[in-house]
Amino acid sequence: MIDSQIVILLQSQIAAEFSAANFYFNLSSVCNSLNFKGFSHYFLQAGCEEQAHAKKIIEYLFLNEQPVDIRDIQTKEIAMPISIPDVFNSALEAEIEITERINTIMLAAVNLTDFATQNFLMWFIDEQKKAVAEAKFLARRVLDLSDNFAALCDLDHEVGEDEI
Ligand SMILES: [Fe+2]
Repeated sequence: MIDSQIVILLQSQIAAEFSAANFYFNLSSVCNSLNFKGFSHYFLQAGCEEQAHAKKIIEYLFLNEQPVDIRDIQTKEIAMPISIPDVFNSALEAEIEITERINTIMLAAVNLTDFATQNFLMWFIDEQKKAVAEAKFLARRVLDLSDNFAALCDLDHEVGEDEI
């Protein structure tokens, strides 16, 4: 039987994943309006990945015969006007925040000696490690290229082709 503390944490993580998805869709829209179609595509994909993460957690709760009740998904605001370096910095901040949330749930699972949930969460721990590294790389790269429009357009194309 899964502990109610874990159920509550996982249920709020579902909302956090959907919130991250919405946030990425908003970043995608910003990139689209700035005419960076590759970055826009990248963030659309990122939003879909967050939705897939939410689905994984929903399935885990169902496996444990727990209900899911999704309400009040609050999406982080984007401060306007926003530049491409701002977009990637806010994506990095979002990934760091998600990592901290996953770590909190893992800590609760460790404290409760809930081995099944620890095992389930390992996928998320690995995923976040990669997501933060990629977000950090892109935030730095975009900042380095921010004064070089042609190079930024090349990166936009590369990222849009999933070549990073
Ligand atoms: Fe996620």
